[in-house]
Amino acid sequence: MAVLVTGGAGYVGSHTCLELLNAGYEIVVVDNLCNSSSESLRRVNEVTGKDFKFYQIDLLDRQSLEEVFNQNKIEAVVHFAGLKAVGESVRLPLRYYHNNITGTLVLCELMQEYAVKRMIFSSSATVYGMSESVPISEKSPLGATNAYGRTKLIIEEIMQDVYVSDPNWSIAILRYFNPIGAHSSGRLGEDPNGIPNNLMPFITQVAVGGVKELQIYGNDYPTLDGTGVRDYIHVEDLARGHLKALEKVMATTGVEAYNLGTGRGYSVIEMVSAFERVTGRRIPYKMTDRRPGDIGICYSDPTKAERELGWIAEKGIEEMCRDAWRWQSNNPCGYIEEEEVLRTT
Ligand code: NAD
Ligand code: UD1
Repeated sequence: MAVLVTGGAGYVGSHTCLELLNAGYEIVVVDNLCNSSSESLRRVNEVTGKDFKFYQIDLLDRQSLEEVFNQNKIEAVVHFAGLKAVGESVRLPLRYYHNNITGTLVLCELMQEYAVKRMIFSSSATVYGMSESVPISEKSPLGATNAYGRTKLIIEEIMQDVYVSDPNWSIAILRYFNPIGAHSSGRLGEDPNGIPNNLMPFITQVAVGGVKELQIYGNDYPTLDGTGVRDYIHVEDLARGHLKALEKVMATTGVEAYNLGTGRGYSVIEMVSAFERVTGRRIPYKMTDRRPGDIGICYSDPTKAERELGWIAEKGIEEMCRDAWRWQSNNPCGYIEEEEVLRTT
């Protein structure tokens, strides 16, 4: 019996594959590598010493995906595969709706057909839209401010409908806050395409010399130093959350959403200071205008996950910065460099 991991070559997926293998699960990975590299999976194998099957397949390719269900005894699915760049989703909404929603529909149809009814879905704190009060609990109002967020909201609703139609389904919707950091081995990490959008990859790019300075988007928010506050969570803690959710969906039926965050917010300036303190690198920055669509303060109430999944984030901000930096300094070009070096030797 195996766990199918869609999008397993990506940032959160690869860390979760590693935890699943270490916990003794058999896994089967499906990814079309549109935003990742198979090198991440090679390293998952290297770090764990465990083999697993990988299919380079697009979720939209029903026939190929069906082969995966035919060839393997799948008992549950951890579904990471999706496009996630907010700005791109505003420019290319149809691409986002098609990839994220149709991809999920194809997957769920096959799951239904093959009687695989246990699923974990990667949602996001973005489903809380322009949330007005913190901490944000699962009962806070939902809303989307862009096409990416809307794909997450729509998929969450699809999951509810699927369960209503057949109460044998068991689905955990995990709403991630801000995943950062990297595996403590320094072998796995976040490898964004081009210039990063998110704060931590941007900071590490500045530290490694790839980008001259950080732009801080706004210093007039109602926060301690005026800069935006977020709930950063170590990717290893996040990965562990998937294992806890998997135990839960294997043991019950229903559909439940859980916040995965630390419950503590840090401002951009606090993040820069923590990074500088831990790494000894200076991060030059300049203040600029607010980024359109940003909110001032966002952090979770993670108590439902603690109560119902027995999960709590354990790693603090310094570990997040230290691990992000270890990954970036050991792999200044992400996964690509090693592939190229291997090709030319
Ligand atoms: P990622 O881009 O690193 O991983 C997603 C993976 O899915 C990639 O490897 C990509 O190649 C693959 N993929 C995309 N479309 C596919 C398709 N049609 N068929 C097969 N594979 C496909 O992203 P991530 O940061 O690891 O995020 C994983 C999930 O978590 C995503 O659904 C994302 O929306 C969600 N999420 C991420 C964050 C974050 O900050 N990283 C926050 C909240 C939610
Ligand atoms: C972004 C996405 C959100 C997604 C989340 C996690 C947008 C509008 N929102 O949110 O949908 O769920 O990532 O992937 O893109 N910052 C800077 N300078 C930078 C980058 C960021 O000052 O170069 C600030 C931001 O204004 C914010 C904080 O750093 O206050 C964190 O930004 P980011 O990492 O992009 O995450 P979110 O804004 O939470």
